[in-house]
Amino acid sequence: MAAAWWVSLPLARLLFAAVLALLRAGAFEISLPLGGNITVKIKPGFSFLNTCALHEGKKTYFFEQIINPGQKFQFTFNCSTPEKYWSILVEKNIDCLSGPCPFGDVQLQPPGLPNLNRTFIWEAKANRRVGLELKFFPWLRQILPGDTCPDQIIYNIGSRLGKDRVHIGTFCRNGSVSRVKAQGDAILSLQLPWDSKLATSGVKLESRSSIQRLCIIESTFKGKSSATLMSANYPLGLPEDELMTWQFVLPSSLRADINFINYTKPNCERKYERVEYSLPNYSPDARVLSLDDVQPVNIPGSFNLSLYGCDQDDMKPGFLRLLFKVIVNYPKNEENVTYKIDLIHEKTNLTVYSKSSMNECLICVHSSRNCRPNVTLEYGRTYFVTFLCQNLENIRIIAEQSIVCWNARTCENLFFQLAVPSVLLQLPILIETFTWKIQALEAVNIEIRSSTLKLKQHIPNRDQRCNGSYSYIINGSSPGRSWSLGYFCPVGDIEKIQIKDNVTITLKTFGKRWFNESNAQKGDLKLFFKPVLQEDCIFTLSPDRKTKVYVQTPNWLEGLLPFMSVYWNISVLPKQVARLTFLNERMGITCEKSRAFIYIKEQSAKALETVCRDDNVLPRTLNLRQHFWINITNCKPSAKQQLSLQFLVTFQKNSDLTVIIGVVAGGMAVLAITGLLICYVKKKRKSKRKESHNPVVGVYNTNVNTLLPGRQGIFKKERKKNDSHVYAVIEDVMVYGHLLDNSTRPEMAEVGVYRPFSGPVSTTPPSPPPIRKISKSSDLQESSNMLVTDSEDYTFARHVPENIHNGDLNVNGNGHVGSRNNEQGNSVD
Ligand SMILES: *[C@@H]1O[C@H](CO)[C@@H](O)[C@H](O)[C@H]1NC(C)=O
Ligand SMILES: *[C@@H]1O[C@H](CO)[C@@H](O)[C@H](O)[C@H]1NC(C)=O
Ligand SMILES: *[C@@H]1O[C@H](CO)[C@@H](O)[C@H](O)[C@H]1NC(C)=O
Ligand SMILES: *[C@@H]1O[C@H](CO)[C@@H](O)[C@H](O)[C@H]1NC(C)=O
Ligand SMILES: *[C@@H]1O[C@H](CO)[C@@H](O)[C@H](O)[C@H]1NC(C)=O
Ligand SMILES: *[C@@H]1O[C@H](CO)[C@@H](O)[C@H](O)[C@H]1NC(C)=O
Ligand SMILES: *[C@@H]1O[C@H](CO)[C@@H](O)[C@H](O)[C@H]1NC(C)=O
Ligand SMILES: *[C@@H]1O[C@H](CO)[C@@H](O)[C@H](O)[C@H]1NC(C)=O
Ligand SMILES: *[C@@H]1O[C@H](CO)[C@@H](O)[C@H](O)[C@H]1NC(C)=O
Ligand SMILES: *[C@@H]1O[C@H](CO)[C@@H](O)[C@H](O)[C@H]1NC(C)=O
Ligand SMILES: *[C@@H]1O[C@H](CO)[C@@H](O)[C@H](O)[C@H]1NC(C)=O
Ligand SMILES: *[C@@H]1O[C@H](CO)[C@@H](O)[C@H](O)[C@H]1NC(C)=O
Repeated sequence: MAAAWWVSLPLARLLFAAVLALLRAGAFEISLPLGGNITVKIKPGFSFLNTCALHEGKKTYFFEQIINPGQKFQFTFNCSTPEKYWSILVEKNIDCLSGPCPFGDVQLQPPGLPNLNRTFIWEAKANRRVGLELKFFPWLRQILPGDTCPDQIIYNIGSRLGKDRVHIGTFCRNGSVSRVKAQGDAILSLQLPWDSKLATSGVKLESRSSIQRLCIIESTFKGKSSATLMSANYPLGLPEDELMTWQFVLPSSLRADINFINYTKPNCERKYERVEYSLPNYSPDARVLSLDDVQPVNIPGSFNLSLYGCDQDDMKPGFLRLLFKVIVNYPKNEENVTYKIDLIHEKTNLTVYSKSSMNECLICVHSSRNCRPNVTLEYGRTYFVTFLCQNLENIRIIAEQSIVCWNARTCENLFFQLAVPSVLLQLPILIETFTWKIQALEAVNIEIRSSTLKLKQHIPNRDQRCNGSYSYIINGSSPGRSWSLGYFCPVGDIEKIQIKDNVTITLKTFGKRWFNESNAQKGDLKLFFKPVLQEDCIFTLSPDRKTKVYVQTPNWLEGLLPFMSVYWNISVLPKQVARLTFLNERMGITCEKSRAFIYIKEQSAKALETVCRDDNVLPRTLNLRQHFWINITNCKPSAKQQLSLQFLVTFQKNSDLTVIIGVVAGGMAVLAITGLLICYVKKKRKSKRKESHNPVVGVYNTNVNTLLPGRQGIFKKERKKNDSHVYAVIEDVMVYGHLLDNSTRPEMAEVGVYRPFSGPVSTTPPSPPPIRKISKSSDLQESSNMLVTDSEDYTFARHVPENIHNGDLNVNGNGHVGSRNNEQGNSVD
């Protein structure tokens, strides 16, 4: 019987029907069964001025009448418009503590109430660990507390936290709120105007397992619509350290935008306030944002939004409150274009993704139902792709292509165009990066050529910047090491880069300008597989007239790898002089193993060679009239030291140069006083032996270039078996060590007895290098360890002031030893 007041039981209906039948017109009877837990209050309105009395038989009342369970009350009003003066409050307690909660429709009981303003309050008491769910039909629309609804029918929903009442929200009929779940007690009130014909509350009660938060408000959308929602207790604050969730249910064909209209943040003592989205179609599927963040838009399908409070400061707690709008719409895909992406012949894998985590976009593959913010397309298939996105700029492509050479014979001298495939260029989507992963056998060299545009190295501290629409990031790697060659872009002077290691080239774009410039990229970069060289890396530069080129050693930030050798082959136009300026005073390292060297040499038989060792002061400038090499070989520097050097090459007319010669003495004197060890210059004498023997591969064997063509195509040499690129200078030191400064002698003597390149690439035990002896061996592989030292004659540029006047040295007046004048060809003895 007790449940009858809550649930519609046939028996209860019959009872009320009987009561009603008894009533005369104008008379009312309210009869409340015992144990129904319903109390009815007939209350006078505030504007009451003795004009309309309530009569119970002979008694006349102007004040509130309370009808308790088990009581019967028969009454009349002595006016025709009692609704102006009286209202009714029906309170019902629902007990979900002592037994099962009575589920089902919430009834507008008792019947027979006069047409006054009526307020029904249902208070369901439940265990704090139980969730109660109110399910609405029709769905509700949240309004600001105090606002009213067009039909005056207002729902208020609350809960309790301990002794405090929490106001979950005020609602009208006709909205999107389909359910409200509260933890523990649920308090529902329904206000009806006096003339309302509403016969049912439109609310169903259900019990739930714990929802583990203050409340959940569920909004359901079936089409284009919007809803304004607010945090519990709004415009006051959400109870301290509470969590509430909005659950949005919408078909995946619709998109939701979240727009925070008004919020304030509490003063948190512990934890922090935040919102968390759970987005089942996304990865990651949860996203935590601050209230200040831009909130997501274009969310496909159902999702949840949770508001987390914090432990607030007792003294100054502040308010956590949030008023927001969710706008649900059809996808705005104005283009409605399907793109065909044919990857059957492009060995390219793609990731197409929505860039901004806030402005969500979707990529649909093959069907408008298979949409995700992030899709991977693998090569070998054809895809049909549509984009659901307001602004396609928020979609990006990351692409990767792999080029391998596992067979030296088949890929020798093959070339590949390193161009973004046209299937990607035709898309209105920006390519964020396109990466070519180039792998080859150790016996194969990778050569990258940019013959039309030529590349420029990005050296921001020298103001040689890449500011175009795309750049290349080039990295080298081989088992056990990885390093960066640097950032490059068109248009510059680097025509060719040869690398011994595997290479990844990442084209990175910068904004929409790429769309215009992608055509220029298309034909420019070419990849060749070539017979291996001994050098780790060779840059070939062919600067145009009047340019100014900065050159920087690879792996700039961490420094050149130990024992790495990097060479630059720089060409000089006829009648021009290249002026090489060292931008570092020293190499800035001390060697732990082996020595580091810089060689600079013009590419002619008679050319002088400038050799600088790690402990030398670098010359300030050198003038070079022919194509020349800068070769740098690193040692193993002491811990925390790095070899990172920059050079500047400028060009001027030959005739402008003479000025420099002879302005020497000052700088040299300074060096003499400070006792600095400087670079030296050596000159090669014509050697009969050299011409009669098979030339030897050596770092300063000028014939090395004529030798290599004959060897092209032979993928035979392996780095570990051939150290030709590293030993060379030690020979000089041994032979000419006695000429060097006293202070360095002990070191020099030592040099003679160890094999200098004892780094990780050496597999043979240290042995003294051969001196002044030419190997008779005709086998290049072996003879390459040998050195033709007796065919050479050396010129020293030491800090001996007398030598200066021989005219073989240039000093630029910056305090460092300068270059030799090559044309004079004289040696300083
Ligand atoms: C009425 O309320 C009392 C006390 O609150 C409770 O014990 C009883 O079960 C309730 N009856 C119904 C029908 O809810
Ligand atoms: C009945 O409700 C209306 C608004 O819903 C209000 O204007 C009116 O004053 C109420 N009447 C009484 C007697 O409270
Ligand atoms: C209603 O009753 C009160 C008290 O008896 C009286 O003052 C008032 O005039 C009556 N009003 C009407 C419309 O009869
Ligand atoms: C519900 O609201 C919409 C717009 O707010 C209105 O057009 C429609 O008439 C309303 N329906 C009812 C039954 O109130
Ligand atoms: C936001 O809240 C503040 C403080 O309650 C109020 O002054 C302001 O009008 C509100 N703004 C909106 C758009 O509701
Ligand atoms: C939203 O939260 C409810 C309740 O925690 C959960 O049942 C539902 O799966 C969640 N929905 C999404 C889309 O995360
Ligand atoms: C977009 O394409 C779908 C499916 O082909 C079609 O139903 C819809 O009308 C198109 N919309 C526009 C705006 O062209
Ligand atoms: C795309 O999704 C995959 C897995 O779902 C993830 O590993 C990857 O980081 C995502 N990529 C982007 C760019 O979001
Ligand atoms: C492309 O994806 C396939 C399949 O996952 C993978 O085997 C291949 O290595 C990928 N290629 C590149 C260049 O990443
Ligand atoms: C790039 O830099 C060069 C010189 O620094 C300048 O002339 C050019 O206008 C810049 N281009 C862009 C697009 O900023
Ligand atoms: C390139 O990578 C492959 C596979 O990782 C490796 O076997 C090969 O030795 C590498 N080549 C070089 C030159 O390091
Ligand atoms: C620099 O390297 C190139 C290429 O290996 C070589 O031909 C040249 O002889 C080297 N120069 C010096 C001075 O070592």
